[in-house]
Amino acid sequence: MITVSNVSKVYSLESGDFYALKNNNIHIEKGEFVAIMGPSGSGKSTLLQLLGGLDVPTSGDIVVDDTQLNGLNEKELTQFRRTKVGFVFQNYQLLPMMTVGENIALSLSANQASKAQIKSTVGQLLSDVNLVGKESQFPSQLSGGQQQRVAIARALAMKPKLILADEPTGNLDQKNGEDILKLLSKLNKEEQMTIVMVTHDIQAAQVADRIITVRDGLIVEEGKKGGYPNETVENRLA
Ligand SMILES: Nc1ncnc2c1ncn2[C@@H]1O[C@H](COP(=O)(O)OP(=O)(O)OP(=O)(O)O)[C@@H](O)[C@H]1O
Ligand SMILES: [Mg+2]
Repeated sequence: MITVSNVSKVYSLESGDFYALKNNNIHIEKGEFVAIMGPSGSGKSTLLQLLGGLDVPTSGDIVVDDTQLNGLNEKELTQFRRTKVGFVFQNYQLLPMMTVGENIALSLSANQASKAQIKSTVGQLLSDVNLVGKESQFPSQLSGGQQQRVAIARALAMKPKLILADEPTGNLDQKNGEDILKLLSKLNKEEQMTIVMVTHDIQAAQVADRIITVRDGLIVEEGKKGGYPNETVENRLA
């Protein structure tokens, strides 16, 4: 499903080239639920953005579901993001001036779905995330947990095979966080969606099949916890 080969993301700073990610390789199977952990600044969000085509690597190859991302132009990348990937962020990123229904329908509208299609898909998604009756409300009228469920419904609208979630429970209390994790688990098990989730919470990571640990731009552990090699920030300054 996802193959990352020799991927680096380099920022040119006055102090030299800074490797946000340095020469990483990963393979994620179709239908896997993978958690990405690691300290702040280690490169987790950068990795997720590269996987979802929100950003491009400085070097290396990324293949998602038979699509080689490096070969795509801006327009093709936009289409890839819109149709193949569902994004969920820590701060929900709903559009405040649009209703819940309009937020969920965004990618459908962008892909010229008919009014009837939009209505039936949005209705189904609202029921899937347990928000029936909230369609005409605005995000500011919902709780954090409800807003995150809207964001998940929006991510699901195009039936993507891949969900990329960056700290989806980061702003939620225990109960709401658990509900979101249950929902992601259900999508993974029942719809065979591949899920890659960044989290700081070891308990949240336990719902995943596998934990990948990133430290100082390097993937240092796959599948196990603890035992970091002695990598430092200096290693990333070339
Ligand atoms: N545009 C940029 N220019 C320079 N450095 C950047 C840029 N974007 C990110 N970085 C650096 O890349 C590194 C990785 O950032 P990233 O956002 O991936 O970290 P993270 O692991 O997601 O951290 P957090 O857990 O705090 O969200 C950080 O050291 C960051 O400062
Ligand atoms: Mg981050």
